Amino acid sequence: MPGIAPQRIPLAPQRSSPQDLEISGDVPGIPQGAERFVRYEDLSRLAQVTFAVKDDENFSGPVKLTGVPLDELLRALGVSGGQLIAATADDGYEAHYTAEYRATHHPFLVLRIGGQEPAHWPKGPNGENYGPYLISHASFSPAFHILAQKEEPQVPYGVTGLRFLDEAAVLKELRPPGARSATSQAMLGYRIVVQNCLRCHREGDVGGTKSPFGWPQMALIAQGNPAAFGKYLVRPNAVNPEATMPANPEYDAATVAALTAYFRSFAPEQKP
Ligand code: HEC
Repeated sequence: MPGIAPQRIPLAPQRSSPQDLEISGDVPGIPQGAERFVRYEDLSRLAQVTFAVKDDENFSGPVKLTGVPLDELLRALGVSGGQLIAATADDGYEAHYTAEYRATHHPFLVLRIGGQEPAHWPKGPNGENYGPYLISHASFSPAFHILAQKEEPQVPYGVTGLRFLDEAAVLKELRPPGARSATSQAMLGYRIVVQNCLRCHREGDVGGTKSPFGWPQMALIAQGNPAAFGKYLVRPNAVNPEATMPANPEYDAATVAALTAYFRSFAPEQKP
């Protein structure tokens, strides 16, 4: 097909090692709903960048990281752009990279830490395994904020796979039904959700699976008990001592109201 770069990276139908990166979604040569596997050795043949990274929250101090820019990987896979890349981690977390995020922050898939291959990687500050893959940046500063939510660095570790999704379709599905203007509470809530909640909560085909609560349940809680919903967002432990969801102490009333309006817009019956 004209306009689509030739594929430069081999895709195997079966996993050959736990270090293989699982690839799925809208990628030439991958049937709908199937996955393919890319070997570490083949990723290592792509053009790479190296940075002395000082502000990645997964490392307690400065660290030299080497890897493949996500946009370079996109080209090597022959993906035509306009894709949202969802990075799936082994703990149910999913990080999301829009085209705009990639152009602003240049995230890269880490292949070497301190010049070393994965077999020699250190453990994280809390004893976690960084591998099979992690994603980082040369440095990160938030490019915008929405109410009390700053743009979040998307820096997952334990990344096992990348999914290439139609960005316009994904964002359309997440947009609040019936939102009238870009500055409505529900639309502000939507932009916050994409920064934060979507990493652990799932809607349809996109989002993390760390939380069992998807959009329908969240809509019911936001609609039926907005006070408890708001309290949970800010301080989950104040509602449920067993809660594992991280607190958002910086969220003020306007931020909570925007998130509540967003999820209420997905409730089956809107109160007038
Ligand atoms: C790092 C993962 C993570 C993020 C980010 C996250 N959540 Fe959660 N959330 C969870 C988990 C896990 C649960 C299940 C209960 C628990 O362990 O806290 C949960 C439960 C909930 C519940 C159900 C509470 C109940 O009634 O039991 C609500 C509502 C909720 N989250 C809203 C949100 C919203 C809104 C955001 C974004 C502002 C968000 N969460 C971001 C992990 C997350």
